[in-house]
Amino acid sequence: MTKKVLVLPGDGIGPEIVGEAVKLLKALQAQGAIAVELEYGLVGGAAYDAFGDPLPAQTLEAARAADAVLLGAVGGPKWEPLHISKRPEKGLLGLRAGLGLFANLRPAILYPQLAGASSLKPEVVSGLDIMIVRELTGDIYFGQPRGVETLPSGERRGINTMVYTESEIERICRVAFDLARKRDRRVCSVDKANVLECTELWREVATRVGADYPDVALSHMYVDNAAMQLVRAPKQFDVMVTGNLFGDILSDCASMLTGSIGMLPSASLNAAGQGMYEPIHGSAPDIAGQGVANPLATLLSVAMMLRYSLGAPEAAQRIEAAVATVLDQGLRTPDILSAGMRRIGTVEMGDAVVAALPV
Ligand code: IPM
Ligand code: MG
Repeated sequence: MTKKVLVLPGDGIGPEIVGEAVKLLKALQAQGAIAVELEYGLVGGAAYDAFGDPLPAQTLEAARAADAVLLGAVGGPKWEPLHISKRPEKGLLGLRAGLGLFANLRPAILYPQLAGASSLKPEVVSGLDIMIVRELTGDIYFGQPRGVETLPSGERRGINTMVYTESEIERICRVAFDLARKRDRRVCSVDKANVLECTELWREVATRVGADYPDVALSHMYVDNAAMQLVRAPKQFDVMVTGNLFGDILSDCASMLTGSIGMLPSASLNAAGQGMYEPIHGSAPDIAGQGVANPLATLLSVAMMLRYSLGAPEAAQRIEAAVATVLDQGLRTPDILSAGMRRIGTVEMGDAVVAALPV
């Protein structure tokens, strides 16, 4: 059955990297590996420019109707002066909330070919395979009250609220434990339970859920320590589960262990298995339009889409194999360049991955 994919290129380098993802999908289609129908929409700054709204109603509707959404990136300096409710990021957050995409999977895997590109010593990162499970529709990102208010003294006060219900914590923990069963059966739950009541509850619920998974080892770690451990001894982690804000920060940190933030894909899933797929990096306005952005995080996001939402795990493996082949060939975008490798641009990298697809 043909699957519907909504493609949302977004802003900055978004259209460039998504262009390569579309090329890859078409190549797989031509191989007979998948049957997809692509539809396009606007989100973020691009949507604001066209409709005055970073998430136009038709985009959200099309996303709801699709089997999966492929997103590039949103945001850029051009839209920073806008009120927060109109900023590109609101488009992304609105999609996450509107589709109920509470489970964000961010795998940080080191391709052995890139051990030298990591800012850490090769022996610290070689063999790295971490799955960060980030809660995506709650926490301080969405908590009320929020805003900036003016006190009677005339001084202004900014407010955001960290909030989690037990059921929100429970469902994301279950996702993490279920994933751990397919991996090394270890879950590290990250919180700040020594200071924040909200995450004290998180720890309690994680422990309770963990009791249903006696075959999975559960540990707890404060987020400050987790950030330190990620750069000290990252291989101690298998699955990490955490809230929205901590997950945002820790996944950027983990990405550098793999050589570049340009390597990390992500899947954001709802309870129905519908998903949105995007690289974890942003719109990189500083390099947009130059043809140098690394498309691999987006191409690997396509692999996750095929695996988690489109029921095509074999096609997903083809992509992952092709990426490994291209790295073996010594081809590198500037962000993962190291001595002796060949520097190429976005389109060449996309072409190389397509050419390396096993048939
Ligand atoms: C991410 C990004 C987003 C987030 C921004 C663009 C809103 O940093 O996906 O990690 O904070 O979630
Ligand atoms: Mg982030």
